[in-house]
Amino acid sequence: MTMEAKLLRREVLPFVLVFGSLTVASLSIDALLHLLDAVWIGRYLGIPGTLFILGSFAYSLRKRKWIRSGSPVRLLRLHEGMGWIGSLLVLVHAGIHFNAILGWLAVLSMLMNVGSGLTGKLLLERSSRRLEEARERMRQQGLSHEELEERMFWDSLTFDAVKQWRTIHFPITLAFAVLGSAHIVGILLFWSWN
Ligand code: HEM
Repeated sequence: MTMEAKLLRREVLPFVLVFGSLTVASLSIDALLHLLDAVWIGRYLGIPGTLFILGSFAYSLRKRKWIRSGSPVRLLRLHEGMGWIGSLLVLVHAGIHFNAILGWLAVLSMLMNVGSGLTGKLLLERSSRRLEEARERMRQQGLSHEELEERMFWDSLTFDAVKQWRTIHFPITLAFAVLGSAHIVGILLFWSWN
């Protein structure tokens, strides 16, 4: 496989697949709700959507050792899956109505979160691939010291990229949490005052 094909498959295709499937699925569900004359259901999908997103945080708690049981690798897969389903439900919930800016800012930060999460996933995959390659080279022992040094340097850079990515992913998640909560609190206040 050529370098370009590898790059496309590893770094571009996942973004196209995740965002493409989110777009197609949310538009299809929205169209179906319109067809069935059941658009009101979409309003309620914000609740399961939020629950799915909250559930996906089990991985984040496991990673920080706030909870100690469960395989981190399995929880990461669950984190991705629940995040995707939650985002889909929230997108259908948001619909194509534009009344309240807060909800839309929350959606925007949610989508940035999905994109940032995916970037992290790719960086992580790349670093474990590099590490595996480095181990393999060690096993073969065919390289000069300098060559090994240089390759290890690139490996450590990849790890740094993962570290740097974390410092960006966290504030994006925080912004999403604040905007999403503000929207929900606003709705709850509105409900209790009427
Ligand atoms: C417990 C969870 C949630 C509840 C109960 C809820 C409730 C509602 C309700 C009742 C509306 C209609 C407001 C109106 O028509 O004026 C609404 C609209 C909306 N919500 Fe939520 N929501 C929830 C979660 C979320 C989340 C997590 C997001 C974004 C990430 C979100 C984004 C939006 C958007 C974009 C709209 C449309 C605003 C507009 O009409 O311009 N919601 N939500």
